[in-house]
Amino acid sequence: MSRTHAYNQPRGPDGSARRYLAYGADYNPEQWSREVWAEDVRLMREAGVNIVNLGIFSWARIQTGPNTWDFTWLDEVMDLLHDNGITVDLATATASPPAWLTTAHPEILPVTHTGETLWPGARQHWRPTSPVFREHALRLAEAMAERYGNHPALVAWHVSNELGCHNIYDYSEDAATAFRGWLRHRYGTLDALNHAWGTAFWSQHYTDWEQILPPRLAASHANPTQQLDFKRFSSDALLEYFRAEREILRRLTPHVPVTTNFMVMGHITGMNYAEWAHEVDFVSNDHYVHPGPQRLDELSFSANLTSGLARGRPWYLMEHSTSAVNWQPVNVPKAPGELSRDSLLHVAHGADAVCYFQWRQSAAGAEKYHSAMVPHAGADSRVFREVTELGRVLGEDLAEVAGTERRRSRTAIIIDWESRWAVERDSLPRSGLDHHQEALDWYSAFLDLGVRADVVPSDAPLEGYDTVIAPMLNVLPQDVADHLTAYVNGGGHLVTTYFSGVVDQNDHVHPGGSPGPLRELLGIRVEEFAPLLDGASLALDDGSVATLWSDDLAVIDPSVTVLASYASGHLSGQPAITRRSAPGGGSATYVSTHLNRKDLTALSKKLLETFGVHSELPEDLRERVELTVRAGESAEYWFLTNRTEESVSLAGLAGEPLTGLSKTGEHTLPARGTVVLRVPSGS
Ligand code: GAL
Repeated sequence: MSRTHAYNQPRGPDGSARRYLAYGADYNPEQWSREVWAEDVRLMREAGVNIVNLGIFSWARIQTGPNTWDFTWLDEVMDLLHDNGITVDLATATASPPAWLTTAHPEILPVTHTGETLWPGARQHWRPTSPVFREHALRLAEAMAERYGNHPALVAWHVSNELGCHNIYDYSEDAATAFRGWLRHRYGTLDALNHAWGTAFWSQHYTDWEQILPPRLAASHANPTQQLDFKRFSSDALLEYFRAEREILRRLTPHVPVTTNFMVMGHITGMNYAEWAHEVDFVSNDHYVHPGPQRLDELSFSANLTSGLARGRPWYLMEHSTSAVNWQPVNVPKAPGELSRDSLLHVAHGADAVCYFQWRQSAAGAEKYHSAMVPHAGADSRVFREVTELGRVLGEDLAEVAGTERRRSRTAIIIDWESRWAVERDSLPRSGLDHHQEALDWYSAFLDLGVRADVVPSDAPLEGYDTVIAPMLNVLPQDVADHLTAYVNGGGHLVTTYFSGVVDQNDHVHPGGSPGPLRELLGIRVEEFAPLLDGASLALDDGSVATLWSDDLAVIDPSVTVLASYASGHLSGQPAITRRSAPGGGSATYVSTHLNRKDLTALSKKLLETFGVHSELPEDLRERVELTVRAGESAEYWFLTNRTEESVSLAGLAGEPLTGLSKTGEHTLPARGTVVLRVPSGS
C-alpha cells in the first residue's frame, strides 16, 4: 500500500484513533533529576499537555559505549508519562552522536567546503553519507524500536531531528564517493554529465568518474550545474538516510507512523521538502519567527506552505517557541497574546499539533536562554499562564477542529526549490536574489488585500485555482512549462516575474531569450537583463517604483496589453508589466521588476479584479485581519488573526465564536489576538 501523503495521526491519549489537537513540547528529562520529572508531569497535566517529543538528544545516555546500553531511565520516563495520560512521539535518538563514537571514528565528522572538520562539541556532527555513522545510528534506531515498539505511550516515531539543520552540506571523501554514485545514477554516462555540466567551458571536461568532486573551495566560481547538482544530491543524501531509519521502524513497528521535523521557514533552503513530503507518514514542521515587518506574514506563509506540502491534510507543528529564542542577534520575547496568536495561526493553516521547543527551560547548555513552556521563573509566570490557557483552548474550545482540512483558496503561489537554489548561487546577473522572499512579498500583498492564497510546491496540481503566481521561476524544464501552458489554456490566470524561465534542468540557458518556453504564452521576449544597483530605482508610468531588477523586453504578440511601462532610465517607454489573454479565457502576466509592498499590493488588486478574485472579508477588515479557513463536514472554521497592534471590530461577521470572544458580547478581535468562528457549511 502506498503511504504517499497518508495522514496517519498518532493515537490519542485515550488510545483511540479519535482526532484531537495535540499539545506539548520536546521533553529532555535527562537534564533533570527524578524529583523534577514528578513536577514535570504534574505541570504537564495542568497545562493540558498530551504529547511530548522525547529522547531527541539522548544517544549518549542510552548507548554509553559500543556495547553498553542504559534504557532504565527512559523506561521510567515512558512509564511515568503513560501513567499520566501523556503520549510520546519518540525520537530514534540518532541526532547527535556520542563522544565515544566520534573518538573511535573521527571519519564520521563532516567537512566544510574549505576542508575544515566540524568537530564534536555542538550537535549533528555527522556526515549524511558516512557508512560508519549509518551502521551505528541504524543499530540504535533498531534497539529503540525493539525496546519501545509496543510501549503504550508510543504514538509516533521521530526520526533523528531537523535533518540537515547543521550538516546539509558535507564535502568529505564519503560525500565525494556518494556524489559520484548519485551522478552516475542521474546521468548514466560521462558524456551526459559533461554535456549537462557544460564542461567544454573553462577546460572542465571529465574523462573518469573519479575526477569528479563536490564543489569544494575553488579558484573562482565553481561550475554552476555542479553546484546545483550538489544541492540536489545533498537533499537526496539526507532523504536517503531518513529512508534507511524509516525502513527499520516500518519493519519492526508497522503500526506506528513515522515522521521527521521539517524546517519550512524563510532562511532554510537546503532540503527539497516537496520531495521529502512524499516520504513521511505525516508532515511535521518546526518554525521560529524572525523579527521584522513581515514577522507574522512569514509565519503564515511557512505554515501555509507546510499545509501545501501536506496536500491540505492536517500536519504537526513539532516545534516553535513560547517566547524568545537564543540564536538571533537580539532575542526578543513575545508580547502578551503572541504565544497564543502565533500557535493558532499554525492551527489555522492545518496544524493538528502545537508543540514547542522545549518543555522546561534548560539550566545549562547552549540553549539555556531559549524560552520554554516552563520558564526559569517557574509556573508562576505569564508564559506558563498563557501556556495553560492555550492548552485549554486547544483541548476544549477548538477540539472539533481536529482532523479538518484546509479549505482551498482560489489563488496559489508556487515555491520551487530548484529555482530557490539556482538564484542563491554566485555568478548571476545580480546577487541578492531571493525566490522565497519574492513569493513572500506577493503573499503579503494578498494578505493586505484580504485575499487568501495557498502556498504550494511546484509539483502540486493546479486544477481548481483561478490564479497562480509563479515568482522567479528560474529553473523551468519543458514539462513544467507545458503544465503552466496547459493551465492557462484551460482558463487559468498565470502571473510570473523577472528571472523566470531562464534555464532548463541542467542550468542551461533557454535559447532565444527568457522566459524560454513561456515566451509564446506570455507574448514577450527578454532581450537583456538589466539588474539595478542596490539603492537604485526606476519609475514606472503607473506611479510605481521599480527596484532590484528590470528587463529590456520586447512584445512579440500584438494581442499583449502593456499594463505599465518604464518611465525613467534607458528603458524609458518600454514595457515593464504585460498581460496576454489566452483563447480559453485565461491569461499570462509578466512582471519584469521588483515592486515595493504598496505598489505590489496595488498591482495585485488590479490583477485580482481582472481575474474576478475577491476578498471574503468585509472591506474594513482587509489588511488588518488574516482569514484562514478549515473545512469540516458540516461546518467551516474561520480563523481570524489580528495582524495589527490594535483591537479590530468584527461587527457584521456571522458565525458562532468558538474561542477568542465571549459567546455573547461585543465581537472585538483583540490586539495580537485570534478569533475562531464556526460557520455552517454553504452559508
Ligand atoms: C531547533 C532544534 C531544537 C532547538 C531549537 C531552538 O532547530 O530542533 O533542538 O535547538 O531549534 O530554537
